[in-house]
Amino acid sequence: MKISRRAANIQPSATLSMAARAKQMAREGLDVIAFGVGEPDFPTPEHICEAAREAIEAGHTKYTPASGIPELKEAIVGRLQAEFGLTYAPDQVCISNGGKHALMNIWETLLDPDDEVIIFAPYWVTYPVQIELCGGRPVVIMTDASRNFQPDLDQLRAAVTPRTVAILVNSPSNPSGGIFEPEMLEGIAAIAAEHDLTIISDEIYKHLVFDDRQHLSIAMLDDETQARTILADGVAKSYAMTGWRIGWLVGPKEFAVKAGSIQSQETSNPCSIAQYAAVAALTGPQDCVAEMRDQFEQRRDFFVEGLCEIEGIQCNIPAGAFYLFPDISAHLGRELGGQQITTSLELAEYILEETLTATVPGSAFGAEGFLRLSFACSVEDIRRGVERLRSVLTG
Ligand SMILES: Cc1ncc(COP(=O)(O)O)c(C=O)c1O
Repeated sequence: MKISRRAANIQPSATLSMAARAKQMAREGLDVIAFGVGEPDFPTPEHICEAAREAIEAGHTKYTPASGIPELKEAIVGRLQAEFGLTYAPDQVCISNGGKHALMNIWETLLDPDDEVIIFAPYWVTYPVQIELCGGRPVVIMTDASRNFQPDLDQLRAAVTPRTVAILVNSPSNPSGGIFEPEMLEGIAAIAAEHDLTIISDEIYKHLVFDDRQHLSIAMLDDETQARTILADGVAKSYAMTGWRIGWLVGPKEFAVKAGSIQSQETSNPCSIAQYAAVAALTGPQDCVAEMRDQFEQRRDFFVEGLCEIEGIQCNIPAGAFYLFPDISAHLGRELGGQQITTSLELAEYILEETLTATVPGSAFGAEGFLRLSFACSVEDIRRGVERLRSVLTG
């Protein structure tokens, strides 16, 4: 059967593949520790589930407007105003089937063939693939663990070409957990203004910031920056709603409307029931968000402490999200169990086979020499997992 060049070139998401492999091993009865997953291990809070049951009872089981129900658009702009002082109108929102789909809509609405989008590595695996699927070109700027993954603004300036249309910001970041400092956001906004570029700001981890820090959206800097920024967000990480598939973009009205038109042709609307559940998430009590964040913070501290005691591992303390991104390059080039291990992929595979501990290789995020370890799992699993890593790497 014919397969398009586009499909032939595509690889499945490395993070989802690793999670699927770990789940399959667990189904086979193996005692797998899942440091590979990118989803909160908490159940979706009960009042949100209840809202979904009520939506079914109320007959909200039909098509909705393609870009989402007005109640959810109002809830989204209401929270942006209340939490971050950002003013938007409901018609500046397009609700999609998850944050990933919101991003896909953004690229489809934004990109013409060979348009360039500047992204910072380590980056979330999906960004370059989506940009390429939409005919664009990802231009990658490396950031450095020793600078806490803050980009170099001179490098950013030098990467802008006549074909550049956008800069992508993901703070807090998957995979590094890094947060862009205010002066970094200001620098990025200034370069975007100088070259009239769009800023895409993926803020899906905005509620997961630690050490009493507050999330700063680049759109909060000033009105001009807000006007050139498109926010991508969703309920998955903040409300433990990964399976419900609700995300959104917020930006200039004409952009949101066009994204809605694309969506109306591609998927119609996001799930009606999940949209009502998302309304309950955004308008209901928010203490569940703070409770989950506090638990993530405790796990982070426990994990970093244990991991840094392993010889040859260096790990920054992530300021947000739920991932550690340790430098494991000291363990590459070694022989482990009779095998020569030269890449983070080989190391992640070796660790999985030998110790039943799933991790994701840094190469999937454009950063060889690192592993991504999720702490969306229990403290007990973290304790056992660290022991397994210690024994396989130094035993
Ligand atoms: C950085 C980042 N953006 C967006 C998403 C999309 O989340 P979802 O499609 O589950 O809403 C994810 C999910 O892992 C992510 O890590």
